[in-house]
Amino acid sequence: MELDQAMQGRRSIRGFKKEPVKRELLEEIIALANRAPSSMNTQPWYFHVLTGEPLEAVRQGNSERMLGGVPPVREIVDHGAYEGVHRDRQVEIAVQLFEAMGIERNDKEKRQDWVMRGFRQFDAPVSVVVCLDRDLVDGTIAHFDLGAVTYGLVLAAWSKGLGSVINGQGIMQSPVVREHAGIPDDQVIMTCVALGWPDESFDANSVVSRRRPVENMARFVGF
Ligand SMILES: Cc1cc2nc3c(=O)[nH]c(=O)nc-3n(C[C@H](O)[C@H](O)[C@H](O)COP(=O)(O)O)c2cc1C
Repeated sequence: MELDQAMQGRRSIRGFKKEPVKRELLEEIIALANRAPSSMNTQPWYFHVLTGEPLEAVRQGNSERMLGGVPPVREIVDHGAYEGVHRDRQVEIAVQLFEAMGIERNDKEKRQDWVMRGFRQFDAPVSVVVCLDRDLVDGTIAHFDLGAVTYGLVLAAWSKGLGSVINGQGIMQSPVVREHAGIPDDQVIMTCVALGWPDESFDANSVVSRRRPVENMARFVGF
């Protein structure tokens, strides 16, 4: 696949076939993502690739805690609720997804079901837990590096026909992920990526999120 085709065509996938993903293919896309640039080539990232029983245990633990009203426990600093244009864009994509899924604004049950899917990592066959070296957590540069490697992962996956969604919800109950994924103490959990073969019949998978025009986000100086 051409790079511009992959970048233009990629979208988050939230419905997956039950088919497993071969470890060799995962190794191939991880090797591509691992080529991401990082500050001073520090490569402060780790991927923990879960499937089968450990992933089911994470899903179950996340669901139980969320339904039980346990407040989210993240290992990275949360910015709180989005406001202004950020909130507007958040609402825009939520409306697109709910419309595609036929979820009415007032249908609390279906909305709750959608949220719970997120905590179950959209029932994907694979979850990649993305971690950061703990001794770099206080600076922002290493966080930037993690974003680069994670985008590399989803783009490489897309180029091989795999779908994925970066899934902050999946690590909102970090102790559950830490326990079942066996995350070492010297690493901090940043996010996870739910990954698998896209289910074409899952309506939300066709949603194309919008972007503001380039002239509204880029300036050209001295041209
Ligand atoms: C850090 C991060 C966390 C995200 N967490 C979630 C999540 O918890 N649930 C979800 O459905 N999508 C999540 N997403 C996916 C975004 O909603 C999605 O990337 C955005 O709406 C743009 O859509 P696109 O990926 O289809 O272009 C996350 C994306 C990022 C980068």
